Amino acid sequence: MSEVFVLNGPNLGRLGSREPDVYGAADFDALTALCRDTARRLGLHAEVRQTDDEAELISWLHEAADGRIPVVLNPAAFTHYSYAVRDAIAQRTAPLIEVHLSNPAAREEFRHNSVVAGVATGTVAGFGFLSYVLALQAIAELLAENED
Ligand code: DQA
Repeated sequence: MSEVFVLNGPNLGRLGSREPDVYGAADFDALTALCRDTARRLGLHAEVRQTDDEAELISWLHEAADGRIPVVLNPAAFTHYSYAVRDAIAQRTAPLIEVHLSNPAAREEFRHNSVVAGVATGTVAGFGFLSYVLALQAIAELLAENED
């Protein structure tokens, strides 16, 4: 079964209690379960991780690049300023979809710029947990295309 990493950056472990008006009432465990179930239905195995640490997130992106593992990535606030995360994504050897629960373009000005979007395969934003489901579907489609 093909593996996919679902990587999450800072503060996403606090889903459920963190600004529920923006991010919803469901917690990170619920997001993890949804990603695992969705991946299984698509014939994939999802490895779901979260960290508040930039270095750890970068080491996971290196692991994905070395293993040719596709990634669904919510870089959280790193999206807007981390050139180190961008440089790690640029080394990718498989599709990487940037996801966001909220629609950053409809929020504060500092969220309008993504320094990672230009090195991602594509971006899904604004659909809550559904953003992750759509990104996993995109990964499955891209992997199937490559098998043709
Ligand atoms: C986020 C959007 C970012 O601007 C923010 O810093 C986050 C979450 C989202 O999923 O909507 O932490 O990536």
